[in-house]
Amino acid sequence: MDFSSKVRDIIDFPKPGIVFKDITPLLQDPCAFQTAIDMIADRHVSEKIDAIVAVESRGFIIGSALAYKLGCSLVVARKAGKLPYENIGVKYMLEYGEDELQIHVDALLPGQKVLIADDLLATGGTIEATAKLVEKLGANVVEAVFLIELLGLGGRSRIADVPCFSLMQFSV
Ligand code: PRP
Ligand code: MG
Repeated sequence: MDFSSKVRDIIDFPKPGIVFKDITPLLQDPCAFQTAIDMIADRHVSEKIDAIVAVESRGFIIGSALAYKLGCSLVVARKAGKLPYENIGVKYMLEYGEDELQIHVDALLPGQKVLIADDLLATGGTIEATAKLVEKLGANVVEAVFLIELLGLGGRSRIADVPCFSLMQFSV
């Protein structure tokens, strides 16, 4: 299936100079969305994955479908101040300033096997922070999975110790 035809480039969004990868056409196509989730999930049907850690917010879309498909826990990594229960956080750098992702302290158990799910790998800062959260709770990242990887931004090398899989690759 040609997934890339279901991703739309939006020039200068959300600000000038940025080309936004819009995945809503893929999500709106039932066959494309189902096939995308199945192709990612099929990589992990033979091993027991305990949990999907889905990254706020677009990662929730991918992560929840994967958790349903694999029959495992769904854990949310949320931006600072959104989680109601006791949590830990990791700060990460944005192009301008910094942000923080948090996870509930009881979201994972030591030794659990985890997939991290997000829509897109760009600089890798988001996934690096999420992987640190998982490690702080003593769980193990089996793979970080994405619909899209932007090859020109070096995300994969930034998280060299985290295996990555992306369904589509674009130069930028
Ligand atoms: C986007 C995207 C990834 C992240 C990738 O999320 O959904 O999560 O950026 O960038 P990175 O690899 O350079 O860290 P964003 O923080 O814009 O928020 P959203 O998912 O809530 O739209
Ligand atoms: Mg995101």
